[in-house]
Amino acid sequence: MVNRPRRLRLNQNIRALTRETRISTNSLILPIFLQEGNNIKRPISSLEGHFHYSPDRVSEEIEKALKAGINKFLLFGLPAEKDIIGSQGYDENGIIQQGIRKMKENYKDEIYIITDVCMCEYTSHGHCGILDSNYVDNDKTLDYLSKIAVSHAMAGADMVAPSDMMDGRIGRIRKDLDAHNLINIGIMSYAVKYASSFYEPFREAAGSTPSFGDRKSYQMDYHNRREAVKEARLDIDEGADIIMIKPALSYLDIIHEVSQLSNLPTAAYSVSGEYAMIKAAAKMGIIDEYKIMCESAVSVFRAGANILITYFAKELAESIRRGD
Ligand code: PBG
Ligand code: ZN
Repeated sequence: MVNRPRRLRLNQNIRALTRETRISTNSLILPIFLQEGNNIKRPISSLEGHFHYSPDRVSEEIEKALKAGINKFLLFGLPAEKDIIGSQGYDENGIIQQGIRKMKENYKDEIYIITDVCMCEYTSHGHCGILDSNYVDNDKTLDYLSKIAVSHAMAGADMVAPSDMMDGRIGRIRKDLDAHNLINIGIMSYAVKYASSFYEPFREAAGSTPSFGDRKSYQMDYHNRREAVKEARLDIDEGADIIMIKPALSYLDIIHEVSQLSNLPTAAYSVSGEYAMIKAAAKMGIIDEYKIMCESAVSVFRAGANILITYFAKELAESIRRGD
């Protein structure tokens, strides 16, 4: 035999030497849920191990993350009140704006803050934009998304991450950030976001389930691959700094294809349903949570992602140290 591929698998040392995909804690982002109020640390039942924090207690989570080596966060907000235009989303005293100020006051540039920019957590109807009867009006929504993004940046966010899937929002947000002299605030675009049932545990956590209909008229149809290329190209042209694909695990083909499109960093969001499925199956005793977590995360990087947003960020940081 001329070729014996097993030579390179013989023991841990040679496997470590020849490993193709190496992941780093620096590539991980941890989602955090902020809730308006005081002295709140409430477990999120659909996302075991995660909590709703009021701004005065979010340091408890940041401390744990920093200790694990995670210092990049994606913020979601649960406002005290909702209305049809989601006005708490761009209020300078909204939950995210308060939370950012608190976090930056305590940690300055030790942490990197990315904010989810969308309307569904703030609107009474739970849709990601402004309604024109039952239709989400794209161009009207852009005015609001831009106000939200600018207010997050003014409060001290390092980067904004629009997740609404309206057309033209990256260009509009870039233009308005620049007009406010916020030229160094980055945009991580949820460029390729599918209308997915994997978001369900999140919607329970964020209270953002639409009160009627679904999100299929703005989020993408999961039967489509070429459309992902179209969406990513548009956002690259409109000035996105990072292109995100979401969900991750059922979309590895999309991650691979989109990562080849440009020289921008590619992020993947391993969403709430992916996390919840692993947690649930582990609880039933039918899989090994730790091993499945490691294998799933590595597959996302192997597919071509450079950045992973995951509810397992702290646990993965530990597994990376162990070389798993
Ligand atoms: C808001 C938003 C959602 C997620 C991230 N931003 C939910 C949705 O689009 O309904 C999902 C995240 C997750 O499931 O972990 N638009
Ligand atoms: Zn939304």
